[in-house]
Amino acid sequence: MKRILITGAAGRLGRVLRKGLAQPDRILRLLDVADLGDAAPNEELRIMDATRIEALHREMDGVDVVLHLAAYPEEAGWERHFPLNYELTYAALEAARRAGVKRFVFASSVQAVGFHPLNETIDHKARPRPSGFYGTSKVAGEALASVYADKHGLSVACVRVASFEERPTDVRMLSTWLSHEDGIHLFDRCIEAPRHHYFVVYGISANTQSRMDNSHAEWLGYSPKDNAETYRDEVLRHGDKIGEVAARTQGGGACEIRFDGHIEQALRAS
Ligand SMILES: NC(=O)c1ccc[n+]([C@@H]2O[C@H](COP(=O)([O-])OP(=O)(O)OC[C@H]3O[C@@H](n4cnc5c(N)ncnc54)[C@H](O)[C@@H]3O)[C@@H](O)[C@H]2O)c1
Repeated sequence: MKRILITGAAGRLGRVLRKGLAQPDRILRLLDVADLGDAAPNEELRIMDATRIEALHREMDGVDVVLHLAAYPEEAGWERHFPLNYELTYAALEAARRAGVKRFVFASSVQAVGFHPLNETIDHKARPRPSGFYGTSKVAGEALASVYADKHGLSVACVRVASFEERPTDVRMLSTWLSHEDGIHLFDRCIEAPRHHYFVVYGISANTQSRMDNSHAEWLGYSPKDNAETYRDEVLRHGDKIGEVAARTQGGGACEIRFDGHIEQALRAS
């Protein structure tokens, strides 16, 4: 039996992964401050504040893989991200180290590289260009996870989740969409992949228009099936209207919040 601890299991990603990752040879230890409903077979529920590192350490007993999802998951004032995206990420990594966990999967975000132009291809080597304070917290989380890989031998996967939605709802998502099925498949691969050191992978579906290159991680065996192009007509006819900054950047709306710079200049910079 493989025991997988999921932080933030009551959230949007967590609810989908809870169902999608369930298997007879896995125990899912689901952790959140919010209600998790009733436990299904092979589930262990933990309602708690994961920023409490000693308590979190105890919950990592017997855990093989941590899927760290809990976060403040959108752009906000600078101070909003400290307790969750910095302190909680540290607590999760440190508790995993102390408990001897072997593998850590970090839900990062495309917002870590959000100011790269939407029409230019980025790969895992793209320089950090966070879309704002939220993206900055994901850059920091990836860096901290890298320390735990280098210094403590934790196998780390950072998944830069793009737009995790049932279907694309605006023109940017024709490029950035990650379907629920492909998201489950990607996190499943990160759990089951051969032992590795540290890698970054983009969480996107097989969208014709995507400009995120995962070719460095072919060994992972992630082969997405869905393509946002299927919804192109629907998106063009009924999709949400978005502004110019949102439509031209990988990070979309997060780049637009409080934007008073020069978009042409920002997009020309590399
Ligand atoms: N949804 C997306 O499209 C998307 C895109 C990019 C990255 N991500 C990343 O994926 C992860 C999950 O995102 P989401 O959309 O499911 O977010 P969400 O806000 O729906 O879920 C986060 C969960 O974390 C829990 N949580 C918050 N503070 C906690 C604490 N102190 N202790 C324990 N649990 C706590 C919340 O109760 C919530 O259930 C986040 O790290 C987010 O940054 C999501």
